[in-house]
Amino acid sequence: MKELIDKLTTTNNLAPEELKKLIDNRNPELAEYLFAKARTVRIENYGYDVYIRGLIEFTNYCRNDCYYCGIRKSNVEAERYRLTKEEILECCAIGYDLGFRTFVLQGGEDGYYTDEKIVDIIRSIKRNYPDCAVTLSIGEKSYESYQAFFEAGAERYLLRHEGVNAEHYRKLHPPNLSIYKRKECLYNLKEIGYQVGCGIMVGSPYQTTDCIVEDLLFMKELNPHMIGIGPFIPHHKTPFADHAAGTLELTLFLLGIIRLMLPSVLLPATTALGTIHPQGRELGILAGANVVMPNLSPPSIREKYLLYDNKICTGDEAAECRSCLEKRMESIGYHVAVSRGDHKSFV
Ligand code: 5AD
Ligand code: FES
Repeated sequence: MKELIDKLTTTNNLAPEELKKLIDNRNPELAEYLFAKARTVRIENYGYDVYIRGLIEFTNYCRNDCYYCGIRKSNVEAERYRLTKEEILECCAIGYDLGFRTFVLQGGEDGYYTDEKIVDIIRSIKRNYPDCAVTLSIGEKSYESYQAFFEAGAERYLLRHEGVNAEHYRKLHPPNLSIYKRKECLYNLKEIGYQVGCGIMVGSPYQTTDCIVEDLLFMKELNPHMIGIGPFIPHHKTPFADHAAGTLELTLFLLGIIRLMLPSVLLPATTALGTIHPQGRELGILAGANVVMPNLSPPSIREKYLLYDNKICTGDEAAECRSCLEKRMESIGYHVAVSRGDHKSFV
């Protein structure tokens, strides 16, 4: 199996059946071998820097009803909130002082925020912080909307594809959502000129190794600038409440594979990874990840943006997370960079 990892390291690619074999035959020794290669590639590309992104969860209203998600519209127990432009700018002000140079505006698909409102928010952030990058993570929109946001100054967009196998996608989403639409959005975003991020939940219900192989091949084909993967974690008020969570072990293994397939990709050690294991994010970095995305949302609303149960950091101030992460990264020999942290192809 080590030959497969060597081949992946030198060619940045494997055939579908080779990927399947590698994933299905993984073991702790093989994982260590993979992570060592992944770290080498990561260090060649980004040194020991860890890029930070300030996440601003500005609305938990959502028109969608994804079966896995705690803020799905059918969860009537979710207490809904929206941040005003002023509140969002306040998060940026706090974040800027803490060294954040990327702000990620993430929210449900909330019709309250018209294109005009989003454009206004982006322009205001860019006016106040011209040295910062604005990332959007607000779901499926028309080409024209994406174009308008880009022209207003947003330069990155995160839209996880969640599962490229059509049958698997259908098992995770209500019938009005489709992987074809999702892929079209991702290709539109790329065409417009965004740095694009796709991604999946690891261990989502009904996900097989074949699904994962298809997802990896799709990542290779899309060739995004960022890939967000984290374990699926059940939320008690969703149809998937009784499904098992994804594992730390498989998530780390896939982080290692992705680093070798796409050597310069921006790869976060996600909050979900930090939620299923106390050192999840550190282990993610040691498996090849190079980004962390702490929260800048006001603590008063944090416990309302719960996509899954037991989310970490819901009681912490932005400054606490910032210093906590700094310590965590230093403890494994890496350091948080005060920079926009662009993809290599953009600097
Ligand atoms: N567990 C883990 N990740 C989740 N997401 C949504 N719900 C869950 C969950 N229950 C992820 C999705 C989405 C991202 C913002 O959060 O992949 O794209
Ligand atoms: Fe939030 Fe550690 S990152 S408290």
